[in-house]
Amino acid sequence: MDIHPLNMSEPISTGKLRLGVLASGRGSNLQALIDAIESGTVRARIAVVISNKKEALAVERARIHGVTDVFLDPKPYASMTDKREAYDRGVLDILRKYDVDLVLLAGYMKIVTPVLIEAYRNRMMNIHPSLLPSFPGLDAQKQALEWGVKVAGCTVHFVTEGVDEGPIILQAAVPVLERDSPETLAARILVEEHKLYPRAVQLYAEGRLHVEGRRVRIADSAAGCV
Ligand code: GRF
Repeated sequence: MDIHPLNMSEPISTGKLRLGVLASGRGSNLQALIDAIESGTVRARIAVVISNKKEALAVERARIHGVTDVFLDPKPYASMTDKREAYDRGVLDILRKYDVDLVLLAGYMKIVTPVLIEAYRNRMMNIHPSLLPSFPGLDAQKQALEWGVKVAGCTVHFVTEGVDEGPIILQAAVPVLERDSPETLAARILVEEHKLYPRAVQLYAEGRLHVEGRRVRIADSAAGCV
């Protein structure tokens, strides 16, 4: 995905929901969110992008669009016995400082601990490049190919203690083609990710997501459930 230059005539803030995006890498999902906000498809604003990688492309994308970013260096935490929790306490401080309502993991290559999960229960989403519960964890597209599935896809879910296990908000499917490599399949899935994540955020912004156990019910705009 291209990095689009900031359009100064279009403020990124078009709504009240304050997003905190946690990203470690390429940031194409962050870009999709920025684009959706700037075009008015998603009524929210990105209050802060937090990264554990100083040089992440995601950080560059944020800056180009005038979005605040914070690099939280994991190194000072590395020698602590509870290094993951301590790091997440640092992340939580930043999220609170920026008054974040909804946290979005977008290619965030760190396992989040209960420190964050409990503070943002049903208010933290992740996007994963498989049709969960199939193929959680790393290299999901490669796992799908090796298993031989004919349909793959992506999932947006709320974050719970189990990795990629939380209640499913939205899913999108793509076909697996005979000549697919993990890269070609990942590219086809990514196109869907870029539509799915903004859609999930907008549903949240409209107050239409209701978690009942493992199920996320999506209310229609007239407050019923579809
Ligand atoms: C995406 O495939 C996402 O599903 C997974 O990590 C990747 C992040 O890509 N969690 P990007 O950094 O958003 O481009």
